[in-house]
Amino acid sequence: MSGKGATGSGTPKKRVVVMISGRGSNLSALISATMAPDYPCRIVAVLSDNPDAAGLDLAREYAIEADAFLANDFSNRAAHEQAIQARLDQIRPDIICLAGYMRLLSADFVNRWHGMIVNIHPSLLPSFPGLDTHKRALDHQVRIHGCSVHFVTEGMDEGPLIAQAAVPVAPDDTEASLSARVLAAEHQLYPMALRLLAEEKVRMSGTGESVFSRLSGGDDSLVISPISAAS
Ligand code: GRF
Repeated sequence: MSGKGATGSGTPKKRVVVMISGRGSNLSALISATMAPDYPCRIVAVLSDNPDAAGLDLAREYAIEADAFLANDFSNRAAHEQAIQARLDQIRPDIICLAGYMRLLSADFVNRWHGMIVNIHPSLLPSFPGLDTHKRALDHQVRIHGCSVHFVTEGMDEGPLIAQAAVPVAPDDTEASLSARVLAAEHQLYPMALRLLAEEKVRMSGTGESVFSRLSGGDDSLVISPISAAS
């Protein structure tokens, strides 16, 4: 399991479940962050809708519980989600991180974990929700692109923002070069945003807004901007 049960100061670490569908590079960044003794979270399980997700093997390498729930094994979407829900009810996480989890969660699911689910999305929301974000950014000739960590609500990629990282778009960028630059930013941003949530410096209000508190003047973890085109 990643990270011991408490920080050096004795504060219990928040229990995090990461939900993935694929390669798990953000999961890897989160696991690395949790290795620091003072990081306020530990990853207690990784759940996937895809048994072949590379991130499951990564989790097992770190002795993190890794379970797959294949949608085809269930009669419908609700039954699939109920199985995941039942597992989460056993695990009792404090925070659920979606990291490339490719299914839209139902209102019931999202409401059950109100303010406890966060997602990373590869664009500067509210621009480019959904898929193919890098292609759409290039098509629109935006000069600044990036990624966002936000609370998860019922609408796709619509929840209140926690933190964002901006990257420049170079004139000769391809989808591959731009997505690699954004991904590097994601790997910095997600651990920072998760720390804010775990340290209770941000929460989602009952009316669905991000509420920040106890941010020090020098706290620059809400925005990373801009990460060099050379990086
Ligand atoms: C990332 O680009 C993330 O922003 C998006 O899905 C991708 C997952 O990549 N939601 P990985 O599995 O973390 O490598």
